[in-house]
This record gives sequence, structure tokens and C-alpha cells, in this order.
Amino acid sequence: MRVALDGWQAGGGPRYQRIASGVARAIERRLVDADHRLPAERSLADALRVSRGTLVRAYDELAEAGLVERRQGAGTFVRPRPAWTHTPVENAASALLRRRLASGRPAGDGETIDLSLSVPAGVDHLPPVDGGVLPHDLEGHGLHPAGLPELRDALADHLTRWLRLPTTPDQLIVTSGAQHALSLVAAALVSPGRTVITGCPTYPGLAGAVAVHRGRLVGVPVDALGVDAHAVRRAAGRAHSPLVYVDSAANGPTGAVLGASRRESLLGTVRRRGAVLVEDLAQAGLTLGDGGGRPPAPLAHGERPATEDDRDPPAIPLAAGDDSVIAVGSLSKMFWAGLRIGWVRAPDPLRDYLLRMRSASDLAPGVPAQIIAARLLTAADAAWRDGLRRALRERRDLLLDLLARHLPAWRAEVPRAGSSVWVTLPVTESETFAHLAARYGVIVASGATACVDGRHHDGVRLSFAESHATLEAAVDRLTAAWEEHARRLATGR
Ligand SMILES: Cc1ncc(COP(=O)(O)O)c(C=O)c1O
Repeated sequence: MRVALDGWQAGGGPRYQRIASGVARAIERRLVDADHRLPAERSLADALRVSRGTLVRAYDELAEAGLVERRQGAGTFVRPRPAWTHTPVENAASALLRRRLASGRPAGDGETIDLSLSVPAGVDHLPPVDGGVLPHDLEGHGLHPAGLPELRDALADHLTRWLRLPTTPDQLIVTSGAQHALSLVAAALVSPGRTVITGCPTYPGLAGAVAVHRGRLVGVPVDALGVDAHAVRRAAGRAHSPLVYVDSAANGPTGAVLGASRRESLLGTVRRRGAVLVEDLAQAGLTLGDGGGRPPAPLAHGERPATEDDRDPPAIPLAAGDDSVIAVGSLSKMFWAGLRIGWVRAPDPLRDYLLRMRSASDLAPGVPAQIIAARLLTAADAAWRDGLRRALRERRDLLLDLLARHLPAWRAEVPRAGSSVWVTLPVTESETFAHLAARYGVIVASGATACVDGRHHDGVRLSFAESHATLEAAVDRLTAAWEEHARRLATGR
């Protein structure tokens, strides 16, 4: 409790109230559990160097608020409370959505530009399909807990043919996006204190999914070849049966693609340490090459590549090499996030367990979005997929070029895949700049949202899944915001 009360003197108000707030915060953050006995008044008063009377008033205040109870002769105990009375764990991904809502000006209205969510800004890029769902498309009760059979067929084909992950429909569960898939996996596998190892920076929604179950996130470095496999091995050696989260196709914010030897090394670590590997393929299929306007590499037989896949094939997922790997993915990046269609591919009996958990919470996914998703998957042929990646690559190169010209003090990494650029700013934290940028009309994701180990608070994630004109306008505004920010830093305001 003494540790939980570190810094209690900060803030205003009488001392007993500040101590009471410190204890309340510790209870809220679940640093102390229900039925935990608080230290005796005298010993805590001595430790905090306050009078016993001050401590008694602080405990009385907590008792009046219903947070603790005094038990005659036994001491003061934290009262059990229903879980819903605790502040929900903050999910950085949903916090970004709320920030956008709070701005009151949705992106696309010509005013605010939202680069904080790396998903297509609209639906103009979708392959042409019939978007209507008529009564004759709907059959029976429509409740399929694992997902509509047509969609699971289409997803299995998509994974097998395009993502190089041989899959049968009965390995899949359709979810409400990859975030839901990750949440289901976390609910099944993360217990309080279980270690979850991730590259850092990482996908912002991971921390929330793990924190709800009070798992312990451990961040390891990420570089241009993805997560540092040696660091994962060391971290796994210090934990009991950890979970390892890997976004092998594209690291959440940096777009780094996991290198081939690291793939082998990670699979070896997982086998030796009894770890569970969760592979996030939400950005799989969005390979972009290494930029710099280089010509495509010639193929081994000397011909020019016929398609983007020949030029830069997606890496083979880890799940293709080991059936125990749990893979999750999404159609949000390729098609549209509003569809809310994702998937989880898990070995039995885990799949069965996940299925029972999902149907306990929402019975089954909605049918109309699944019908449209199946049509889109069928229509997304090689030409369409090539076009999507070509457009993304051009947007990435444009954004990198604009940043280099207008914001030379920012250090941008070239993403090999995905739809966001990770930039390091010459400041210690980027949250204040993100607030200022929002006032200039651009919403960006600050480094803290993607960072689990405190080392990347100077970063910013910028989506380039926007039109050229929008990216140009965004960089103009960011440049103006940065000039003001730099001025403020220089004058100490
Ligand atoms: C790596 C990663 N995983 C999961 C998700 C969640 O995607 P969905 O919209 O399918 O929930 C995202 C989306 O931003 C992501 O980038």
C-alpha cells in the first residue's frame, strides 16, 4: 500500500483527502484486491509521516464512500464490488475512436482529416458487387455461431490462395473484426499475471484486450525486420507458459515485415518454452515493397513480374508452419472497417472453446454484412488486389516524400506493408503535439497508444489510406502545427 500511495502528496485539498484518493485509485486500478486488509492506521500514518488522526479520517472517508469496511477488532478491508463499478480498462484503439467522435467533426467532412485509423477512408475502392441484401438472400433463422458457411468458404479460399495459409472453412470462426478475435483469444487464454510478449510499438488494441484479464504485457524491440526474436526468447525464458503476440505480416504501426530467419526462431522458442503464439494477420496481403521507387526485382527466370504477388509475395504465415499457432485477421484493411468482419483460425479443442464463448456473448454474427463480405471476397481478383496495393504504395511514397520535404526533423520509417507510417518526433512525448495537431484539423495516433514499455512516446502513427489531396492537405496542417509546437517548446510555454 505504501508503494501504491507513492506521490499521494501531489494535488490540492486536505491531507486526509489526498490519502483517501490515493487508496481509492489503488483500489480502482486493482492494485489491491477485494478483502485485502489495509495497513493498520498507526503503521501507515508513520510510513506517510502524518498523524494517526489524519489516517483515521482518510479511512473513515473511504468507508463512507463504500470502498472499504471497518471490521471490529480485525481492521479495515477493501470491499468487494461488482466488476462493472470499476472504470473499464482503457483500450487505446477505442480511445482513438472516441477522440474522433469528441472532435464532433467526422473525417471526410472537409474539415478534420483523420490519420489515426489505418483503414480505408471510404468504399470507393471496393470491387463492384451487389451491395443489396434481399429477403431471398436470407434463409432459416440466420444464426450461425461460427459464421455463414458461404463466408467461411470464401475466407478459407482467401487465406489459402492469397495469404498463403492453407485453411479449411471448419478451422475458422467469423468474428466482429480482428479486435473481437483477439478479445476472444485473450478471454480464453489470459489469466491474471500471465505474460503476453509483444513487439513494441504494437497494435493499440492489444493492450486493452490483455488488460481486461489482467495479463502482464512485456514489450520487446521491433526493427526493420519485425520483432526481435532473440528478445522474445529471453522474455519467454523468464515467464511461465507465456503468450507471444506477433503481427508477422506487418508490425502494427511500423509496417515492418517479420524476417524469414526470425520466423523460424520464433517457432523454435514457442515449441521449447511451451508458449502459445497468436499471429495477427489483420494487415496480411497489403505488401508494398521497400519503396524508393525501385524497379521490381526480376524473377529467378529473368522475366518481369506479372502481378504484384509475383513482385512482392506475402510472407508465409507462421500458422502455416505450425498448427498450434492461433491466427486472427480482418477484412477491415482491405475492404472496409465498418463491415466488422474478422476471423480466428484456431486448432481444436481451442476453436470449440472459442466458439462456445462467442455464442454465449452474442449468439452469432449478423448475416447481411457476412453476405456482402463473401461477395467482396469472390470479386477481389488478382487485378483488383494488385490495384489496391499499387494505390497504397503510391500513397505511402507520397506521404514519405511530403514528410521528408516539409518536416525534415521527423524520422519516418518506410513501411514494407500495411497502411501506416511510424514517425519518431524530436520530442520526449507526442501526446501534446497530437492535441495541437487536432486543433489544426488532423487527428494522429500518438506513440503512447502503441507503446507498452514507455520507450515510444515520441512516436506518431500516420495512416496513408487517404487520397493524395487529403495527404497533401494533412501534411500542410501538420507542418503548421509543428511550427507552433516547436515555437512553444523553444519559448518554454
Ligand atoms: C494489427 C491489427 N490487428 C487488429 C486490428 C483490428 O481490426 P478490426 O477492425 O478487424 O477489428 C487492426 C486494425 O487497426 C490492426 O492493425
